[in-house]
Amino acid sequence: MNNRLNQCPAMYVCLCKGITDTQIRAAIQDGASSMRDLRISLGVASQCGKCGVLTRDIMRESMTSAVEDNEQLFYAVS
Ligand code: FES
Repeated sequence: MNNRLNQCPAMYVCLCKGITDTQIRAAIQDGASSMRDLRISLGVASQCGKCGVLTRDIMRESMTSAVEDNEQLFYAVS
């Protein structure tokens, strides 16, 4: 499922607030690290809550890829 999330250029995740996955990823890059942070900064999952599961998947995928990117930046020094 994570690969499918990466292949879409942009999609609406939260219809109640009109929030896209791109906005969620940008908020995570700006420092949001929890559903609470995303709810406060974007309003995602603050009305009906149906977008909560997908938002959480995007958050996990974004944080995992950020960790993998960081792992590629560092290497052992002997
Ligand atoms: S779709 Fe996100 S709160 Fe309803």
